[in-house]
Amino acid sequence: MTRGEIAMTDGVAISREGAVQVIRFARPTKKNAIDAPMYAAMTEALETAGRDDAIAVSVFLGAPEIFCAGNDIADFIRAASEGSEMRGVGDFLTALATSRRPLMAGVDGLAVGIGTTMLMHCDHVLATPRATFRTPFTALGLLPEAASSLIGPRLMGHRRAFELLVMGRDMDAEAARAAGLVNHIVAPGALEDAVLAAARHLAELPREAMLASRRLLKGDSGEVVTRIDMEMALFAERLQSPEAQAAFQAFMSKGKL
Ligand code: COA
Repeated sequence: MTRGEIAMTDGVAISREGAVQVIRFARPTKKNAIDAPMYAAMTEALETAGRDDAIAVSVFLGAPEIFCAGNDIADFIRAASEGSEMRGVGDFLTALATSRRPLMAGVDGLAVGIGTTMLMHCDHVLATPRATFRTPFTALGLLPEAASSLIGPRLMGHRRAFELLVMGRDMDAEAARAAGLVNHIVAPGALEDAVLAAARHLAELPREAMLASRRLLKGDSGEVVTRIDMEMALFAERLQSPEAQAAFQAFMSKGKL
């Protein structure tokens, strides 16, 4: 892809600004909920970035007041009825965990489910004061994914991770900053410029030194990938559970959880 060109898969727009790859959730009618084609497009984008020396960093963005409503619940229902493991989700999570480029994100509004847990793989996250982080896994009869059950407690301590990931309590922007999930809080109108400026700064650093330093900080991804696989297997079981089925039906019939 050449500079500035946008590849649009249904629901996700992938573009390049110099050495910065931008992956933008763009499914406004469903609050940027992620479905299977979107996972596939994002996985491919991350893998492409890892192979392309011209790309230094990948950036995730959403839309004003909605970053991402999490996994598409209709896909949860489909996976449960087919007994499938949601391989596309696992592939995306593995691509995140093993990304060869730094990952950044700018969050405005709601980040639900994987919209929050994916941030635990990012190297730098900016958010606006109206960002809200929400993981209603337990209420949905599910459990944490994206290795958040491993990274969450390490990042923010057991109690904060428990409140977010198990109790399902909303975490506001300030709490997320204090918990280490967010680096800085910036005004909504300044968010995207700030994220892109940080990405450009990273891209302008000596590339080999930057990437080697990141690899040192990240360490071996083996443990994280193993946890992703373990969670995905348990998740597939939970999808079939009466608890999860009841929660999905409640959402689909009322439009709300
Ligand atoms: N999966 C599928 N569809 C979703 C969705 C999701 N995760 N999140 C939102 N949508 C759809 C709604 O069904 C609705 O579709 P419709 O217009 O065809 O009825 C549309 O997006 C708008 O959502 P709505 O609930 O009316 O918007 P809202 O502003 O009142 O609430 C949310 C937004 C994100 C708070 C709410 O939609 C929600 O809680 N979504 C589920 C989030 C979730 O639990 N994700 C899974 C986590 S594991």
